[in-house]
Amino acid sequence: MSPRDFPGVDDLARRLAAARSVCVLTGSGISAESGLPTFRGVGGLWRDRRVEDLASPRGFARDPQLVWTWYGERRRAHRSVKPSAAHVALAALERSIPDFTVVTQNVDSLHLVAGSRNVLELHGKMREAKCTECDARRPLDDVLDDLATSAPEPLAHVCGGLWRPDIVWFGEALPPDVLEAAIDAARRADVMLVVGTSGLVQPAASLATKRYTGAYVVEINPEETALTAHVDRSIRARASDVLPELVV
Ligand code: OAD
Repeated sequence: MSPRDFPGVDDLARRLAAARSVCVLTGSGISAESGLPTFRGVGGLWRDRRVEDLASPRGFARDPQLVWTWYGERRRAHRSVKPSAAHVALAALERSIPDFTVVTQNVDSLHLVAGSRNVLELHGKMREAKCTECDARRPLDDVLDDLATSAPEPLAHVCGGLWRPDIVWFGEALPPDVLEAAIDAARRADVMLVVGTSGLVQPAASLATKRYTGAYVVEINPEETALTAHVDRSIRARASDVLPELVV
């Protein structure tokens, strides 16, 4: 099947050509074709792990080493993969549309590596560590290096806090400035794309609903999702089958 055979692609291309403002909400499905696992699909990260042990403040307080071992493995996986054709296509689209924002739930930095510039990382970023007590930040890889060389107390920050990944964990609020900018982008958009997310995690998913956007909303996902009933059109295809076709 050629990408143009997916119903809705030609119509979407026309709408994008006329759009002044576009917002794209992405999830782990867009990185699946780079080789990273999703969260809830086959082989997904949350399929055989306890979220509360690995991605919650309580889990970190209980066993920081376990949490760092898991995030260390994920960070190494992120460093070993390249952006997919879908990431690259979004970066190219940004160059032809005056107001273009990628709002991502992903923490893998692949939109930035692909060349997207206006990226809002709703759930944080795996490339950075932050202190549990103060505003200090440092590259996450530096903490991993300290852990690997068994530096004394590698997770201790001088203020008395501990270094943790700069990821939004369960039960934590999204960074308010990033969320506010994402809401603004959703409100401004004429066209909104929802790519590779199950739409199960709030408040990210609601950005693509009428509560936050008056845009024409198109979902690109091989599966039906929690957002399908709320969007104007669903294109049942993989992100990299469709997005490169939209670049003029
Ligand atoms: P999920 O695992 O919930 O959903 C992934 C979605 O990607 C599914 O709907 C798949 O059908 C779709 N998908 C898979 N391959 C695809 C492809 N090639 N092209 C397009 N779509 C594809 O992952 P997310 O929706 O990203 O939060 O999960 C949202 C949040 O839940 C994550 O950011 C994470 C997690 O808990 C935090 O860690 C805070």
